[in-house]
Amino acid sequence: MLTSLSELPARKAAGPPLAVLTAYDYPMGRLLDEAGADLLLVGDSLGMVVLGLPDTTGVTLDMMCHHTAAVRRGVTRAPVIADLPYHTYRDASEALASARCLVEAGADAVKLEGGVDFVPQVRAIVGAGIPFVGHLGMLPQSVRVEGGYKKKGRTPEDADRLLADALALDAEGACAIVLESMMPEAAEAITRRIRANTIGIGAGPGTDGQVLVTSDLTGAFPWFRPPFARARAAVADEMSRAAREFIADVRGC
Ligand code: KIV
Repeated sequence: MLTSLSELPARKAAGPPLAVLTAYDYPMGRLLDEAGADLLLVGDSLGMVVLGLPDTTGVTLDMMCHHTAAVRRGVTRAPVIADLPYHTYRDASEALASARCLVEAGADAVKLEGGVDFVPQVRAIVGAGIPFVGHLGMLPQSVRVEGGYKKKGRTPEDADRLLADALALDAEGACAIVLESMMPEAAEAITRRIRANTIGIGAGPGTDGQVLVTSDLTGAFPWFRPPFARARAAVADEMSRAAREFIADVRGC
């Protein structure tokens, strides 16, 4: 079990693979920390699976700070990564100011979506001593521009572009990079070439670790689950059952 981000290089070298989960509030943070997750991510996926928004573009920095602080109160061991939400890192100074808010709320590291085009932002964050996690491949914050969630790295040109992005973030000192929804060969090539740990989601088995949205893992958000995510519990069913039982009990029927 990881206790500090400084242990990441050793895990890349010797394993075992990193097991990473998202957390959005105190009980989730505490339960997942106690269960032994290596890293916890306060993902802006909370916009969908907690707040009922259609995608992550409506998530604000205030929301992220609020949830990061709640997770922080529950976590004593696992490093906590928090997402910089959409339009909070449009240039280097905005990125640094937003990253500082997340760190003040309790994040150990911050994550943003994008590669080469975001080098100035990453340089400002890392230069200020804030650990940085990248995010490449399918970028949920670009869903509206891209017109949907599309798998990446299907052509040699696209795989080369992803590798160039990963190398750029690696050179800036990223401690880890999430690789989301990309062809397994592209994810493997990146994993072999960079120093940072890769954390895959829908990117095949050849990365340094795997991350899942916890609501997908636990079946807590039954209305949508990506095809690669296997639910290992049925939390929504259990909640509905308990509620129905209580309602029937109170009504005496
Ligand atoms: O927001 C999130 O939960 C994420 C994961 C999908 C990696 O970025």
